[in-house]
Order: sequence, then C-alpha cells, then structure tokens
Amino acid sequence: LEEKVAVEAGGCPHAAGSRAQSLDSIPGPTNWPLVGSLVQLLRKGGLTRQHEALVEYHKRFGKIFRMKLGTFESVHIGAPCLLEALYREEGIYPQRLEIKPWKAYRDMRDEAYGLLILEGKDWQRMRSAFQQKLMKPTEVVKLDRKINEVLVDFVGRVGKININGKIEDLYFELNKWSFETICLVLYDKRFGLLQDQVNEEAMNFITSVKTMMSTFGIMMVTPVALHKNLNTKIWKDHTAAWDRIFSTAKVYIDRKLKRSGAKDPDDLINDIFRHSDLSKKELYAAITELQIGGVETTANSMLWFIFNLSRNPAAQKKLLEEIKRVVPPDQDPCGEHIKSMPYLKACLKESMRLLPSVPFTSRTLDKDTVLGNYSIPKGTVLMINTHAVSANEEYFDDCKNFKPERWLRENNNIEPFAHVPFGIGKRMCIGRRLAELQLQLAMCWLVRDYKIVATDNEPLDVIHSGLLVPNRELPVAFNRR
Ligand code: HEM
Repeated sequence: LEEKVAVEAGGCPHAAGSRAQSLDSIPGPTNWPLVGSLVQLLRKGGLTRQHEALVEYHKRFGKIFRMKLGTFESVHIGAPCLLEALYREEGIYPQRLEIKPWKAYRDMRDEAYGLLILEGKDWQRMRSAFQQKLMKPTEVVKLDRKINEVLVDFVGRVGKININGKIEDLYFELNKWSFETICLVLYDKRFGLLQDQVNEEAMNFITSVKTMMSTFGIMMVTPVALHKNLNTKIWKDHTAAWDRIFSTAKVYIDRKLKRSGAKDPDDLINDIFRHSDLSKKELYAAITELQIGGVETTANSMLWFIFNLSRNPAAQKKLLEEIKRVVPPDQDPCGEHIKSMPYLKACLKESMRLLPSVPFTSRTLDKDTVLGNYSIPKGTVLMINTHAVSANEEYFDDCKNFKPERWLRENNNIEPFAHVPFGIGKRMCIGRRLAELQLQLAMCWLVRDYKIVATDNEPLDVIHSGLLVPNRELPVAFNRR
C-alpha cells in the first residue's frame, strides 16, 4: 500500500466547523497485509528502537498517525494540543491497553486486580482508596523520614563500593535503593538490600519481578490462552514468578495488618484497609502492583538524573549552591527543604523531559472521540507518545540539550501538556509525588556529598526495554567532595 503523507497545517488539526474525517484517513506508515508496519519497524532496529521510530513517524506524518503491527492496530498522538483534547474528552473510568497475561494469572489463581489492570468502577474504588495518601502533597511529604532512612544507607554504600569513584552495575544498586524505599513505605520493613550480605528472600522477590516482567511482553503479542493451554515455558515461568511475588507480598501485608496500631505513624496499609471498603484480596493486589509500578521506574529516572548532571557540570554546581543555601550543614535534607528548591525541581523535570523512563502510555477509547480532525471510534487503542512530544523542537527550543533554566523562565511558553512523564488525567501515575520526592531527596544527598563526573563524553545509546535504558554501563563516577 502507498504511504499516505500527512497534510497538516502548522497548528493542531481541529474540527471546528469542518466534518471530522474517519479513522481510515489518518496517515501512517506502510500497512502491508498481515504484518502492517512490522517489517519496517524491524528494519529501523526493532522494538528496542521503537521510541526513535515513533519520533520519526511523528516528524513524517504529523501530530497523529495510525499504525498496524501484525494484528495490533493503534492510533498515535504526539502533540500537546491532542493530549489536552484527549484529557478534556476523558470519561470517568479511563482505560489503558489491557495487560492480558497479568489478568490470566489472577483469574487462574483467583487473585484480585490492582490499579495497573483494573477497569471501570472497581478501578475507581481502588484508586480513591489510595488517592489521598499517595497524591496529596501534605501526606506524601510525611514520607521523607522513611525515604531518608534508606538514603543514609545508600549514600554510605556509594562511598564504600566505589572503585576510583566508579560503581559496578549502578543500575542494580539504584534498583535495590528504590526497592528498599518502597518496601519501607509500604510494609514498614527493611530488607537490608544495601548491606554487603543481601537478604535472600528480597533477592528472590527482585528476581521474580524481573522474570515476570521479561515474560509478559511476548504474551502481549501472541494469544495468552494458547500459552496457557500448551503450558509453554513462558507461561510456566510467568506464573511461577507471580506465585512467588504474591506469596511474599502477602506475608508482609499480613504481618503489617497484625501489627495494626503499632508504633508506625505513617502506616499506609492499615490506614487504607481501615478507611476503605477494599477486601484483603484487593489489598494484596493493590499493594503488590504499587510495588511493581514503583521500583524500576524510580531507579531508572535516578539513573538518567545522575547521567544528566554528570554531563552538565554547570547545572550541578548551581544545584549544589542551592542545596547549600537551603539545607544547613548540620541537617539532613527533608521534604520541607525541597519546597524551597526550585532549581532542583527544574533539574528533575528537565532530566525526565530529555530522558524519560516511560516513553508512552496508552488508552483504549471507551467512546467515539474526536481528536484533532479525526473521529476515532470507541475501542481504538490510542498510544500517547509523551517522549515524542518532549523530544520535539516545536515544543522545546534546543530540545536535545539539558537546560533546567527553561522551566524557571517567567512566561516560558511551555505548553501544559508538553511534558507529562507520569501520564495524564485520572489514570496518571499514582506514585508520582512519592517518586518525585524520593528522586529530589536522593539527588540532594548525593550532590551534597559527591561530585558526579562524566568518565567519558561519548554519545550514549538509549534503548527501549520496557523502560528507556542506556545500552552500556553509565560513564559516571562519584568523587567525594
Ligand atoms: C502509572 C510513570 C513511579 C505506581 C504510571 C504511568 C506512567 C508512570 C507513565 C501511566 C499513566 C497513564 O496511563 O496516564 C512512572 C514513573 C515513575 C513512577 C516515570 C518514577 C519516576 C511510580 C511509583 C509507584 C507507581 C513510585 C508506586 C508507589 C503506578 C501505578 C500506576 C502507574 C499503580 C497505575 C495507576 C492507575 O492506573 O490508576 N506510572 N511511575 N509509579 N504508576 Fe507510576
């Protein structure tokens, strides 16, 4: 089939006064029978390069395009005005693309669904049970004590395990830090992951999450029922991993519920259980998914934050000055200090713009929706290409460079939906505030004690493997100040 080329005016296509066109008229890459654009995408480097392919397709076809990969068809949006239009059209129960393998496991074991996979009224019921505790700034700031408890160990460990400032497998160390933090927040339990002798139970948990994550992708593009009926290795590994994840999480949740009323003033599990109508089964699923959603995403954002500061010493210097100005030398950085640190916030924002962890999210439309000039039918899968927006010169001047100052300029003209690394609307990331606080505090502790330096200035290739990751060990070192 001939490729259609987008004919688009400079602004967002919009339907005022004109009849919206059909789905079929949305431009897009080659759509061959059976495979759609799969071959083309593979030629561009395959799924690990899909974030780059999406940027390129938006350049070629405009703010909206349509693509088929095998039998999977989706409409892609990559412009602030379209994200905003979607947000304005959002119903009361927005849906993401179904994660069928996860649902198949829960159905088989009679376990509940958590926020990542729930839909409709049940999603809203669970979301509102957690919303207040996790999204209200005055609640989240209270978690700084627990975040700092882990940071003391983390910064100590950075001092201990570096060889000439270099840390072997920094990403793994960051994953352990973020796992330890979320476990302390959720279960009020330390796993000891930042000690030399790592707790075996915690390592099993981490390995199980890894296996579970690495086995579900293939079942997103091939029928889950087939894997289940044939009891394929993928299915067996996936379900065994979930079994270990659930059994471990249940032990800690049960322990926490038994110790209700004990010394912990920020007892999330008991608070939620007491003040909502969630059943125990639902609580297990909700907490397990919070943990799954929160570990690698935060570690990954920290990795890129470290990288960006290593390559931008002037910004790092300015950040250190802000830290010194706001945090007295005899005090630990805390949530209150962060409130007076605009440069730190701008640095994190800019880091997540330039190198986001999650390059896109999705919605399955629950009603016919007009976006731009097109009428898109109910049931269509919409890919929201947040990375393609923030990597577009049209929305960010000098978009390839790290410029925290852009966020601090008065009348900066940055469109509100141009930077949404945590997604949009009612289904946006519920761990956003926790993650931001964790990342901001972590950077305060690190930069105060260490100069983060680049050990080379070669370009770093970014690949997509669920999240955006560097293709090699990060070229950074931590030199004690
Ligand atoms: C959803 C990113 C940290 C739990 C999401 C979404 C994104 C995202 C893009 C999809 C939003 C949408 O579809 O509009 C991130 C990033 C993080 C992070 C970049 C770290 C920097 C966390 C943490 C937790 C968490 C710490 C847990 C405490 C969740 C959950 C959802 C979600 C449960 C599903 C929410 C729902 O559908 O109601 N996250 N996340 N995330 N995230 Fe995060």
